[in-house]
Amino acid sequence: MTPALQVRGLRYRYPDGTEALRGVDLTLAAGECVAILGANGSGKTTFVLHLNGLLTGEGSIEVGGLALTRRNLAEVRAKVGMIFQDSDDQLFLPTVLEDAAFGPLNLGAAAPEAEARARAALRQVGMEGAAGKPPYHLSAGEKRRVALAGVLAMSPEVLVLDEPTIHLDPPGQRELVQLLKRLPQAKLIVTHDAGFARALASRAVFFERGRILAEGPVDEIVQRFSWFELGG
Ligand SMILES: Nc1ncnc2c1ncn2[C@@H]1O[C@H](COP(=O)(O)OP(=O)(O)O)[C@@H](O)[C@H]1O
Ligand SMILES: [Mg+2]
Repeated sequence: MTPALQVRGLRYRYPDGTEALRGVDLTLAAGECVAILGANGSGKTTFVLHLNGLLTGEGSIEVGGLALTRRNLAEVRAKVGMIFQDSDDQLFLPTVLEDAAFGPLNLGAAAPEAEARARAALRQVGMEGAAGKPPYHLSAGEKRRVALAGVLAMSPEVLVLDEPTIHLDPPGQRELVQLLKRLPQAKLIVTHDAGFARALASRAVFFERGRILAEGPVDEIVQRFSWFELGG
C-alpha cells in the first residue's frame, strides 16, 4: 500500500547557517498516527514546514505517492492539512464559516460548493453552531477546532499538527483527542505532551539535533527520553 507520507534524506540549513535538519527519513502508513517528540530546537517545526512546501530542503518528500515538487505544490498542499500551534495565525476572516471555506475557494471550488464543504467540516468538529461568529470570540479550544475544520474542508490525506495542545485547558485537550481519534487521516503530531502522544499515536519518533535519534512504541520512547522535558 502506498504510504501516506514518505520522507527520505531530508536536510535543511537556514540562511544564517543553522543546520536544522541533518538527514531525516520517515514513513507514515495510511491511517497511522505518529508522534514527533524531542527537545526544543531539535528541528521538529522545521521538519513539518517541509511537508507542504513552506520550506524546501534537500531530499525527497512524497505524499500519497505524489512527489512534492515546485510544479505540484498546490496539489500536495491540498493533501496535507497543517495545524499550527497558534490558531490566531491561521484564522483571519470575519466569520468562522468564511475561514473554513477559504481553503476550498482557494483550490478553485465555486462559492456554494466551498460553503457546503465548510459547513460539513464545521459539523465534523462540532462547530457548526459558530458558523456566523468572528473567530476572535472563540476559546482557544474552539479556535483549534475551527482551524482543523479549515483543513478538513480540503479533504486532506494527511494531518500535521505542531504542538496542538498549547494554550488548551485539560477539557479542551480531551476534546481534541476524541476529535482526532475519529478522523481517518494519517496523522503526524508534534507534541511535548506525553499523555497526548500516548492517547493518539501508535508510534513515536524522537528528534535530536536535526535527526531522528530513536523510534518505537510511544511508551518506550517516552520512558527512554523522559529526561528531555517531556510530559510538560
Ligand atoms: N528562521 C530561522 N532562522 C535560523 N534558525 C532557525 C530558524 N527557525 C529555527 N531555527 C533553528 O533551527 C533549529 C530547529 O528549530 P525548530 O525546527 O524550531 O525546532 P523545534 O520545533 O524542535 O523546537 C534550532 O536550532 C532553531 O534555533
Ligand atoms: Mg517547534
